[in-house]
Amino acid sequence: MPDPTSTLTHLLAHHRDFEDFRALMQETSAGRFGAIWWGVWQQYVAPVLPPTGLVIDLGCGPGGLFAPLRKVMPEVRIVGVEVQPAMLRAARELAIEVGATIVEADLNGALPLPDNVADVVTAVHVLHELPFPVPLLREALRVLRPGGAFLLFDWVRQPLRQYTNGAVLTPDLLQHFREHCLFTADDLAYLCDDVGFRVLEVIGRRNNQYAMLACVKPAAA
Ligand SMILES: C[S@@+](CC[C@H](N)C(=O)[O-])C[C@H]1O[C@@H](n2cnc3c(N)ncnc32)[C@H](O)[C@@H]1O
Repeated sequence: MPDPTSTLTHLLAHHRDFEDFRALMQETSAGRFGAIWWGVWQQYVAPVLPPTGLVIDLGCGPGGLFAPLRKVMPEVRIVGVEVQPAMLRAARELAIEVGATIVEADLNGALPLPDNVADVVTAVHVLHELPFPVPLLREALRVLRPGGAFLLFDWVRQPLRQYTNGAVLTPDLLQHFREHCLFTADDLAYLCDDVGFRVLEVIGRRNNQYAMLACVKPAAA
């Protein structure tokens, strides 16, 4: 059972200010859920997602995926999982508007969701925020039905020069570099593979600053 205080302390050190970070995530969500996202979705997710299927978005933040997803799939059931209070407030407000359910839970431990319920699980820019990402991946696999799709999208390792992009190197920026750039795309594929997913494709994004991994839960997992 994860300790909620230590999760929020860890997140506050990374987000710096919960409200500012909530606003940043709202301002930047169109970039994450743009043409490339929907191209990957079309190829790997749409074929396994029935019109009234269930999508679980782990670390949903303020719910940036909800409205564009509702537009593409008017009847799909959407569940967002989140723990950070400012994100939860925004996600809950949006959930009323677009028809989604918010589950307050800590991805460092077991989720209050049944086995094999979801057709699709997404985890967008959240894995790097966990001190140990394996429970998140195990829970993604557990709640997904066999044959269901898992889309992982996150920061990946890159040269410091590319990460700073001309900004002055401060202790804060270097700390963010450590937090964002721990795993390579291949490391993420290894982690997914290791818990039991089959990785179908790894897609580099924005000059390989990020990677999207399209995975499936094999029938025997
Ligand atoms: C960078 S934000 C991305 C939000 C959203 N996926 C998006 O792309 O707009 C990562 C989110 O994961 C959430 N998160 C991080 N660690 C978590 C944990 N242990 N349990 C639940 N949510 C967590 C954060 O609170 C934050 O809202």
